[in-house]
Amino acid sequence: MILRELLPAGRQLLEEKFQVTSLGLDADRSQMKAAAAGADGLVTDLTFAVDDELLGAAGPQLKVVANFGVGYDNVDLAACAARGVTVTNTPGALTNATAELALALAMAAARDLPAAEKDLREGAWQGWDPRRWRGFELSGASIGVVGAGRIGGRFMELVAGFGGERLYTSRQPKPDLENRLGAERVELDELLARSDLISLHLPGSRESRHLIDERALRLMKRTAVLVNTGRGTLVDSAALIRALKEDRIGAAGLDVYEGEPDFDPGFLTAPRVALAPHIGSATYRSRDEMSRLVAANVIAVLEGREPPNPVPGV
Ligand code: DGY
Repeated sequence: MILRELLPAGRQLLEEKFQVTSLGLDADRSQMKAAAAGADGLVTDLTFAVDDELLGAAGPQLKVVANFGVGYDNVDLAACAARGVTVTNTPGALTNATAELALALAMAAARDLPAAEKDLREGAWQGWDPRRWRGFELSGASIGVVGAGRIGGRFMELVAGFGGERLYTSRQPKPDLENRLGAERVELDELLARSDLISLHLPGSRESRHLIDERALRLMKRTAVLVNTGRGTLVDSAALIRALKEDRIGAAGLDVYEGEPDFDPGFLTAPRVALAPHIGSATYRSRDEMSRLVAANVIAVLEGREPPNPVPGV
């Protein structure tokens, strides 16, 4: 059972082996609960909670929840474990796509591209002006990666060409990033204070909620560019909007928001922000590969094998 939508690249693999039903993107919670009943596997995604209620509605035969994405903060892992349901995700498939979007947002925010383009589109451009649209250069910038996992590590590779220092936070040291890219592991506060560009690459969780709050924002340089392609919950939206409006930080590039698809409307009037609607993994290659991984995970579990991407701890 696909609760919303799986792209054909993965859906076809499932259809070769199982009876597959898909509700489509507009499915509501009660439709999901009704449709899940009796399913052996559920294909889920970040837009809805996979909680004990939904698992219960599916029934005791349910064996696998295959989340279409690398993040699984929408899944109640304890409830799945208690019911003996395997949870899988799609790591790796979206590493390049998300790291590249983080770079795009960093550059767009640093040069205030969305506002400059808006001016042009609205006919407000008066011609070349030496004073206007001055932004920040990334060449030589200190770049801080918060959460140097797959995506954070790839982001660091992409920005290595800018030539400045590279800082990172991580539970574990990353000798590869240190040896290959000269990265330095530091505590979060030091990273915030030293970096010209800060990119967030942590999963959403109770511990990471509002990691970037008023206090953290006040540690940053007045010219710092903050990028978030991880989860909206990492950043206190109201505090970030205040910091931008009061010129306490340089710029922000955001792909994720608290309460998606809603977001704080203050972002629409805040200066120097580049906004994207959660499109980090949205490349043809990445989304097809994610879909195939979802299918491979479901097939493995339902055929009694270890899935390629089990979520640890379930
Ligand atoms: C993920 O995989 O967790 C992304 O946020 C969805 O693209």
